[in-house]
Amino acid sequence: MRLNNLFLILCFVHAVSFGFVSAQTQICGDSMFFTPNSSYDTNRRLVLSTLASNVSTRNNRFYNVSVGEGAGRIYALGLCIPGTDPKECSKCIQLASDGLLKKCPNQTDSFDWLIDETLCFVRYSNSSFFNKIDLEPTQTIRDAQMFQGNVTAYTRTWGKFMEFMLTRVGPTRYLADTSPPIDSHRIYVLMQCIPGISSDDCETCLEANVRVYKTCCSGYKGGIVLTPVCYFRWHYYPYFNAFTDTFLPPQVSQPTPRPPPPDVKKISTGAIVGIFVSAVTLVVLLTLGLVIWKRRQSYRTLKPQTDDDMISPQSLQFDFATIEGATDTFSSNNKLGQGGFGEVYKGMLPNETEIAVKRLSRNSGQGTQEFKNEVVIVAKLQHKNLVRLLGFCIERDEMILVYEFVPNKSLDYFLFDPAKKSQLDWKKRYNIIGGITRGLLYLHQDSRLTIIHRDIKASNILLDADMNPKIADFGMARNFRVDQTEDNTGRVVGTFGYMPPEYVTHGQFSTKSDVYSFGVLVLEIVCGKKNSSFYQMEDSGGNLVTHVWRIWNNKSPLDLIDPAIKESYDQDEVIRCIHIGILCVQETPADRPAMSAIFQMLTNSSITLPVPRPPGFFFRNRPNLDPLTYGSEPGQTRSMSVPYSIDSESITRVTPR
Ligand SMILES: *[C@@H]1O[C@H](CO)[C@@H](O)[C@H](O)[C@H]1NC(C)=O
Ligand SMILES: *[C@@H]1O[C@H](CO)[C@@H](O)[C@H](O)[C@H]1NC(C)=O
Ligand SMILES: *[C@@H]1O[C@H](CO)[C@@H](O)[C@H](O)[C@H]1NC(C)=O
Ligand SMILES: *[C@@H]1O[C@H](CO)[C@@H](O)[C@H](O)[C@H]1NC(C)=O
Ligand SMILES: *[C@@H]1O[C@H](CO)[C@@H](O)[C@H](O)[C@H]1NC(C)=O
Ligand SMILES: *[C@@H]1O[C@H](CO)[C@@H](O)[C@H](O)[C@H]1NC(C)=O
Repeated sequence: MRLNNLFLILCFVHAVSFGFVSAQTQICGDSMFFTPNSSYDTNRRLVLSTLASNVSTRNNRFYNVSVGEGAGRIYALGLCIPGTDPKECSKCIQLASDGLLKKCPNQTDSFDWLIDETLCFVRYSNSSFFNKIDLEPTQTIRDAQMFQGNVTAYTRTWGKFMEFMLTRVGPTRYLADTSPPIDSHRIYVLMQCIPGISSDDCETCLEANVRVYKTCCSGYKGGIVLTPVCYFRWHYYPYFNAFTDTFLPPQVSQPTPRPPPPDVKKISTGAIVGIFVSAVTLVVLLTLGLVIWKRRQSYRTLKPQTDDDMISPQSLQFDFATIEGATDTFSSNNKLGQGGFGEVYKGMLPNETEIAVKRLSRNSGQGTQEFKNEVVIVAKLQHKNLVRLLGFCIERDEMILVYEFVPNKSLDYFLFDPAKKSQLDWKKRYNIIGGITRGLLYLHQDSRLTIIHRDIKASNILLDADMNPKIADFGMARNFRVDQTEDNTGRVVGTFGYMPPEYVTHGQFSTKSDVYSFGVLVLEIVCGKKNSSFYQMEDSGGNLVTHVWRIWNNKSPLDLIDPAIKESYDQDEVIRCIHIGILCVQETPADRPAMSAIFQMLTNSSITLPVPRPPGFFFRNRPNLDPLTYGSEPGQTRSMSVPYSIDSESITRVTPR
């Protein structure tokens, strides 16, 4: 798209309301023109008049269309924030469409990221652009005011937080999140790409937008950088109803530590340094942002104290017919497996998105509304190391969960198969450990809720095409964790060997229970042996943890290494991983490191690891006392699990009966 060398700086002068709605945001191409009343013109009118209803009635608030033939052929796309109320979305798209008709009377290629009560995007062109990355032109808009306060702290947090956003936005093409506090303020950041471009292109585009920050808006209280395929905005107050700021405890004295970005190379250090340096040199100007402050106040009081933000149950709901179509009516050819709590099928949506469909065994005893609320919470968890929940379906007595499809099966499929384990060389295994760490860290600490997975194990780690790990089956604990661990006889049996002693004996869960399971998993990854493969081996004490501890104490940790990686391993990394694994399986939860500490230990080799004490583990060979078998009856199981504890320190106590 070749357009004027537009580099507009539109100020948010109308700070009192979203007055800048009236600012011209249409960007009309300047190199191609069509003849009025031509078939292209007619088709453009037709498409732009139907786009609003088409977009707002789609679940994902996205619609692209192509009509006409030959010279009259037009491609058009409309997009709202996922989960936007249909009326709001429709109104916004209509405004954008009308604006384009009016402001771009004979331009062949034009677009608008329109700000109404919400954000929406409309573009049309005579060539297909749905899956093309297009970085020009870039338009920037900034707030009229500069940040006052600790610019150093502001800039640092800004930079780090944007990196963190960039690591997560790709797969979903949309992310709205709130930074840790800076001088008691937070930055509200929204990133969106058009869905047709790849995850990498989305990241590339937004990365470029973030970099533009320093030339346009460094040190200001807010800004927007947009291109034809992606949109980046940050501000000192929430906007577009896209943030759940009220969910955060009002008095947060310590910033939540965000992890450094997993892949530092993804954003150039130069850009960060540049942003940093230029912002530091800014002189702090201007008087109080009283108006904005006032608005924040009124926003806070107006907004109900609920977790009711941009993702609504409606936007996640799939028709049963769609699911049937996607899975070829649950054809056995599409069956991927039989999970503990239902069958899993592969499916393909009409837009060619591959999905995994989990058809739940019925009767979780769960109310429909409760189920929906929970899906909404889980759907908000977005991280590249978590399997994404796309939606659900409740119809005809069916309860179905729709997940993103992850192509490479699960970790156990490779790790424990003598023929396949060599496909996982040390580099891959190390990367997998790192990815699981990041995913768990996000669940424990960086999502808005503290979420305890409670069933970390090799078969719950899925692998994508590049063997990157994605944690599956998290968050739906309230409904399904119990069902999932129910065996055929109706007894509840946990995933033996991954459970920490305090859970087994007292039914206590905390983030440190996940740390224990994670530790067992790390040891399995290094040793290439299933924890359960030790049950019959008396001299090992019947479990991997004891076995590892014995060999560690003999000062011969390298004996533990899976022979399949003998060629490829890095001695320091392997020993560090075994050490971390042992720290994670310490008997007392307080002795186990938090995921954030584990992340540090893995990424910073200069950190000295504590000397471990003997690990905690569980003897299996006491049939009468097998604490994993609670004789539970259906119907009682629900009271067992309380999946989310808001405070990371709190231990969610569960009392099996
Ligand atoms: C296009 O058509 C409208 C009515 O259909 C007419 O009023 C207008 O003059 C036409 N414009 C051109 C440039 O032919
Ligand atoms: C969607 O768009 C097509 C053509 O662009 C139109 O024929 C159809 O009526 C629209 N659907 C709705 C629900 O507006
Ligand atoms: C496009 O329209 C503008 C005004 O409506 C006119 O001045 C210009 O000549 C037109 N350009 C072409 C290439 O038709
Ligand atoms: C788009 O229209 C311009 C003229 O308006 C033409 O030169 C170009 O070839 C067209 N592109 C496509 C893909 O049809
Ligand atoms: C600004 O913040 C930085 C980092 O948080 C801190 O080290 C510094 O002391 C602060 N400066 C002032 C003037 O508060
Ligand atoms: C819509 O965009 C997708 C790419 O995201 C593309 O595969 C599909 O063909 C497009 N639809 C139309 C009608 O062109």
